[in-house]
Amino acid sequence: MTLTDTYTLANGAKIPVVGFGTWQSADGDEAYTAVKAALKAGYRHIDTAQVYHNEASVGKAVAEWLAAGGKREELWITTKLWLQDSSEAAYDALLESLKKLQLDYVDLYLIHWPNPAPFRENPGYEARNREVWKGMEKAVRDGLTKNIGISNFHPHHIDALLKTATIAPVVNQILVNPSDQQEELVSYNKAHNILTEAYSPFGTGKIFSIDSLSTLAAKYHKSVAQIVLAWSLAKGLLPLPKSVTPSRIAENAEIFDISLSSEDIAAIDALKGQAGSSNNPDEVGF
Ligand SMILES: NC(=O)c1ccc[n+]([C@@H]2O[C@H](COP(=O)([O-])OP(=O)(O)OC[C@H]3O[C@@H](n4cnc5c(N)ncnc54)[C@H](OP(=O)(O)O)[C@@H]3O)[C@@H](O)[C@H]2O)c1
Repeated sequence: MTLTDTYTLANGAKIPVVGFGTWQSADGDEAYTAVKAALKAGYRHIDTAQVYHNEASVGKAVAEWLAAGGKREELWITTKLWLQDSSEAAYDALLESLKKLQLDYVDLYLIHWPNPAPFRENPGYEARNREVWKGMEKAVRDGLTKNIGISNFHPHHIDALLKTATIAPVVNQILVNPSDQQEELVSYNKAHNILTEAYSPFGTGKIFSIDSLSTLAAKYHKSVAQIVLAWSLAKGLLPLPKSVTPSRIAENAEIFDISLSSEDIAAIDALKGQAGSSNNPDEVGF
């Protein structure tokens, strides 16, 4: 496997097996330089979002890469909608994201969270997601995004969406790392032909405090980050490592020569709860 290898989604689309994370990469030099370094290191899949407020910087790095001869069809760009609550607002938010990204289309557009606080009472997550999904389906028909999906959805959110969706979600982007593996949700995604993207593969940095991972990494002559990403791939997940440090960006791509033994995978599986957990999407404060 390499950074250009792909998973095949339920609709036949091919998505590069590792994505480059950009949450908390500051708009301007930081995000621009990070994405530039990622493209140089061979990443072909970039994950951003409206609420990261860095789409313009991501777009600048991508535009330069394309101007230097890179092919758009070799890239996979994901962005996400934030607190929109109507079909039109979802569609318009994507147009706005595309403008910032300097792109004609994205490869994947996600509902970022299933049940944001402002809609919990009225109109409720079912109605809100049904409406934004209509706008996202129109965006697919109009060529603004190749694929649509979801993020942070639990089974009850997925079931509700599937009642009215005419295009099924192909991806659910959720937190998965050794400390919180969300196995039931991962199985649920799989049973519905939805690929699980594993965000916060390092627990936003918290994973590095688990001592036993350092011992394991030393055994493979690799870093903790590399071992955790290899574990994620071994589980058939699509990890989204974030870094703004060029040496780490390159390091996080040197993972395809690692073959973890089943005992070591089991040892990592046993690290649950040691470095934080995911947020309940029905209780988050935004
Ligand atoms: N859909 C959602 O709701 C959602 C939520 C969270 C995240 N995500 C996506 O998933 C991506 C990754 O998650 P995350 O941002 O929470 O963080 P993460 O990838 O779990 O961890 C990033 C942290 O680890 C550090 N790091 C990276 N590589 C390292 C290495 N080789 N050695 C030591 N430290 C290293 C980074 O530092 P430096 O940057 O300083 O190098 C940063 O502090 C996000 O950027 C975003 O694209 C999505």
